[in-house]
Amino acid sequence: MWNNNRLCKLLDIDHPIIQAPMAGTTSPEMVAAASNAGALGSLASAFSTIEECEADIKAVKSLTNQAFNVNFFTHTPPENFAIEDNNLAENLANWSEKLEVEQLPAITESNFPFDAKMCDALCNNAPKVASFHFGLPDQNLVRQMKEKGILILSSATSVKEAVWLEEHGADAIIAQGFEAGGHSGWFLPRGEDNLTGSMALIPRIVDSVSLPVIAAGGIADGRGIAAALTLGADGVQIGTAFVTTSESVTSDIHKDAIMNASGDDTMHTKAFSGRKARTVSNAYARSMSNVDTFPDFPLMNTVTAPIRKASIESNSPDATALWAGQAAGLNRRTSTEELIFQLVNETWHALKIRN
Ligand SMILES: Cc1cc2nc3c(=O)[nH]c(=O)nc-3n(C[C@H](O)[C@H](O)[C@H](O)COP(=O)(O)O)c2cc1C
Repeated sequence: MWNNNRLCKLLDIDHPIIQAPMAGTTSPEMVAAASNAGALGSLASAFSTIEECEADIKAVKSLTNQAFNVNFFTHTPPENFAIEDNNLAENLANWSEKLEVEQLPAITESNFPFDAKMCDALCNNAPKVASFHFGLPDQNLVRQMKEKGILILSSATSVKEAVWLEEHGADAIIAQGFEAGGHSGWFLPRGEDNLTGSMALIPRIVDSVSLPVIAAGGIADGRGIAAALTLGADGVQIGTAFVTTSESVTSDIHKDAIMNASGDDTMHTKAFSGRKARTVSNAYARSMSNVDTFPDFPLMNTVTAPIRKASIESNSPDATALWAGQAAGLNRRTSTEELIFQLVNETWHALKIRN
């Protein structure tokens, strides 16, 4: 039974489908709707303060008593704060002029990795699941969460990362393929350009770890879910397909760009945050292809904030991040609940055809 397997039992869910955490897009309403529909909803708290994160958790708990996930980033804090690349300085100046942004902010760190204080707050609120992007937090924090009974997930973009996560306390592994929207979760040195597509990544990770494997990247309908299950995954994590649901709080520009995307017009870029992430291709991201070095992640978030804001305010998709995976062409406009209902029905159908 694909929908009563070890991942469902572990996470206490009916369908092995995780609504992906998406900073700037997910709302407590989306998370609760996903969990109430039998999937696992995920709050995206990577850029939240402790107070914001606690308020979001409270809001979710007021809308559902089902299991849900809270997500954080565990990136290495930045060391390189300088804009050393002349092309980057020139491009930023051009975009500022074009969008009438008077002055770009100084480069400061405004998005911080998961730390002991956030861990204390999370443990006090004890959601069923916490997920991490870019590895795992300090082992003491992992132990603290486990003592509270919180299950821990994290993304692997290679077999080596999956094995590392299994050895360092993860309870299930998200196998994130090249197709995925948003930031690639790679964290072990090997060159971030060397990302693998899901078709090869999923079975290789399945063969290398004993934990449940959750496929992520380019999955947007029941055919994709059935394919991931056939490759040995125990479940899926889906992001882009939820961006155009009614509970999504991202801009209409982002939603429209995804609805109009064919799927072969997404690209990886470091130009918004300093780390590789997949967006619908736009003029800003393409204009940065001549830049070799960006300040360390996540400093570009601060630098580009006024440019992104001005782009949205002028109703233009040209200079704002349009995070989306390669299956963007399959997006539909519907509610979170209806999307999960459709995904489950389509998966049954796809698996039945296969049998
Ligand atoms: C708009 C958007 C924002 C995202 N933000 C996050 C995030 O905050 N944390 C995280 O772990 N992953 C984030 N991701 C990546 C997803 O967790 C997941 O790996 C990805 O969406 C799967 O690929 P798909 O978009 O093709 O379904 C984001 C993805 C998108 C599309």
